[in-house]
Amino acid sequence: MPFVIAIDGPAASGKGTIARALAARFGFHHLDTGLLYRATGAKGGDPISAAATLEIGDLARPDLRSAEAGQAASQIAAIPEVRQALLDFQRRFAAQEPGAVLDGRDIGTVICPDAPVKLYVVASDQVRAERRAAELGADPVEMLAQLQERDRRDSERATAPLKPADDAVLIDTSTLDIDQAIAVAVAEVERVR
Ligand code: C5P
Repeated sequence: MPFVIAIDGPAASGKGTIARALAARFGFHHLDTGLLYRATGAKGGDPISAAATLEIGDLARPDLRSAEAGQAASQIAAIPEVRQALLDFQRRFAAQEPGAVLDGRDIGTVICPDAPVKLYVVASDQVRAERRAAELGADPVEMLAQLQERDRRDSERATAPLKPADDAVLIDTSTLDIDQAIAVAVAEVERVR
């Protein structure tokens, strides 16, 4: 059985950085599932058919990291049929040997509920806004408002809302630097493995 590491959390919590580091460390495949929703939103047109016809090439568009693409993604991510259309791809990805790390909002709760390692990564709103503003060269105050709006939409939607799985391990990266956050995550994987 391939080993699955499920990582969830709000925007700019540090989950992507932790996911990449764990994949490199353990030689696992890595999927940033937010890209699926960003690419679906960026295709335009009917979001359900956009999700159903999504191809690997669509994930390489250069504009997907923008704040606008993030907002568009969180709007179409509330549509149950869009989520359903993206489900198989994520499950197949998670089934690859020797293992996979998936990060997103519903990996531990919906996509891979049997994952042996589930991490839920959080950080204070202030810290997340500053990180994302530095990354995108944007204004932290504006960033804060955008992140809060997106988190609210992601947490309040009816289908697969952002929330920790009952058995997820919480990692708060507010006061950790990158190496410290990675070390906590590595220790958790090694404990289970
Ligand atoms: O993680 P990222 O910020 O790239 O995700 C963009 C948006 O995609 C999120 O705000 C969320 O609405 C949606 N998403 C989701 N489920 C996932 C990953 C992302 O609903 N597993």
